[in-house]
Amino acid sequence: MSQAESEQEAPTFDKDNPFAAKITENRLLNKEGSSKDTRHFVVDISGSGLKYTCGDSIGIYPTNDSAYVENVLSTLNFTGDEMVVVPKVDRALPLRAALMHKLSLAGPSKKFLQALLAKCGENELVEARRYLEPGSRKELMAYLEQRELIDFFEEIPSARWEPQELVNLMKRLVPRLYSIASSPTLHPNDVHLTVAIVRYQTNGRDRNGVCTTYMTDRVKLDDPSVPIFIASSHFGLPEDMGKDVIMVGPGTGIAPFRAFLQERDTRNDSGRNWLFFGDQHASTDYLYCEELESWQKDGFIQNLSLAFSRDQKEKVYVQHKMLDKGKELWDWLESGAYFYVCGDAKRMAGDVDTALHQIAQEHGGLDEAGAKSYFKDLKKSKRYQRDVY
Ligand SMILES: Cc1cc2nc3c(=O)[nH]c(=O)nc-3n(C[C@H](O)[C@H](O)[C@H](O)COP(=O)(O)OP(=O)(O)OC[C@H]3O[C@@H](n4cnc5c(N)ncnc54)[C@H](O)[C@@H]3O)c2cc1C
Ligand SMILES: NC(=O)c1ccc[n+]([C@@H]2O[C@H](COP(=O)([O-])OP(=O)(O)OC[C@H]3O[C@@H](n4cnc5c(N)ncnc54)[C@H](OP(=O)(O)O)[C@@H]3O)[C@@H](O)[C@H]2O)c1
Repeated sequence: MSQAESEQEAPTFDKDNPFAAKITENRLLNKEGSSKDTRHFVVDISGSGLKYTCGDSIGIYPTNDSAYVENVLSTLNFTGDEMVVVPKVDRALPLRAALMHKLSLAGPSKKFLQALLAKCGENELVEARRYLEPGSRKELMAYLEQRELIDFFEEIPSARWEPQELVNLMKRLVPRLYSIASSPTLHPNDVHLTVAIVRYQTNGRDRNGVCTTYMTDRVKLDDPSVPIFIASSHFGLPEDMGKDVIMVGPGTGIAPFRAFLQERDTRNDSGRNWLFFGDQHASTDYLYCEELESWQKDGFIQNLSLAFSRDQKEKVYVQHKMLDKGKELWDWLESGAYFYVCGDAKRMAGDVDTALHQIAQEHGGLDEAGAKSYFKDLKKSKRYQRDVY
C-alpha cells in the first residue's frame, strides 16, 4: 500500500470517535501532609495520528465506578440486564452498561425530582416540595447540588421506577476536559495533564468526582482503554516568538503554562516569561517546583511570582502578587506582552481581572472607562486570553 493510501485509510479520532489511549504515568504532585491530591498524568497517544498545540485540552469519556452502579441497581431491585434506550445512542443496551458508560448518577434534575414527588406521599420530601414552588429556584438548585440520585433512591425506597422511565429522567455522562500540560514539540506522542482529584462530602456522604477518580483509581496503567479526543482551543501562544508572556495559573491552572514554557524553551523563543503561581502551602503544594526553579535559575523564566495562600495568617493570592509588581506588569503590557489566566472561574479569574484594571488605573493613569476599553482592545487582539473552568 502506498503511503498516500495508508494515510487515507487511517481512522480519524475525534469527539464522536474517541481514541483508546493508555495512561502510562500517574504521579502525586503534592507532598506528604498536603490536604490536596493533585496528579500528573501521562497519556500515551502514539498510533492515534492525533496532534495538539499549546493551549489545547484533552477530552476524556469516563466510566462510573462499578461498585456504585451495583449499589444503585440493588437499591432499585433491578438486575442490570433490563434493556433500555439512552437518547442519542442508536441501540438498546442493558441498564448496567447504560449506568456505567452513558448516564450520570450525580446532578439529579428538576424533572427527576418532580417525577419522584409524584410517586411519594405528601409528608415525604416536604422540603423539596417547597423548593419546587415559584420563586425558589436558588434554594432548589442548592438542594439538588447537595444530592446524587442514590440519596433519593435510599430515602424513598417505596417509589417504583421502570428502568426506561428512569433513564429518560437522567442526565448524560459527558466527557471532561483537561488542559494539556506538555509541549507538542517535545512530547508529540504523549499528553501530560495536571489534575485535581475531586473528593468531597455533601448531605453527609462521601462523593467522588467521576472522571478524576476514574483516572486515578479505576484505570489500569498501560491499558489502552481510555477514550480520549483533542479539543482545540482559542487559547494559545503568540505567533510572534519574540513576544513576552505573562501567565497567571494558580492550582491546576499551571497546566497550560507548563506546556507554554516547555514549548518556548524547546523552540528557543526570545520573548520573556513571567509566571504567577499559587496554591495552599509552599512545602507541600508547589507543583512542578523543580522544573520551574530550574527554568528561573537559568534565566528562561525572568519573573516567578509565588502566592502560597495558607503560609501566613492573611490569605495571599496571585492577584496580590500582581498588585505588588503593578508597575513592572504595566510596563510589560505596554511593551506588547500577552496576558493569560487559567484555573478557577468562580472567583480567581474575576479577581485577577479586577487587579489588572486596578494596575491600569494606578500605573497607566487610565480612568475606569479607559481601563475597560484598554482590556477590551487587548482581548480583541488576543493579547488577553482566559482558559477558566
Ligand atoms: C477547558 C477546561 C479545562 C480544564 N482543565 C482542567 C485541568 O487542567 N485540571 C483539572 O483538574 N481540571 C480541569 N478542568 C475541570 C475538569 O474538566 C473537571 O470538571 C474536573 O476534573 C471534575 O471532574 P470529575 O468528573 O472528577 O468531577 P464531577 O463528577 O464532574 O464532579 C464535579 C462537581 O462536583 C461538585 N463539587 C466538587 N467539589 C465540591 C465540593 N467541595 N462541594 C460540593 N460540591 C462539589 C460540583 O458540582 C462540581 O461541578 C477543566 C475544565 C475545562 C472546561
Ligand atoms: N469551576 C470548578 O469546578 C473548579 C475550578 C477550579 C478548581 N476547582 C476544584 O477545586 C479543587 C482544587 O483545585 P485547584 O487545585 O486547581 O486549586 P484551587 O482550589 O483553584 O486553589 C489554588 C490556589 O488558589 C487560591 N485561591 C482561592 N481563591 C482564590 C481567588 N479568589 N483568587 C486567587 N486565588 C484563589 C487557593 O487558596 P485557598 O484555597 O487557600 O483559598 C489556592 O492557594 C479541585 O477539587 C477542583 O476540581 C473547581
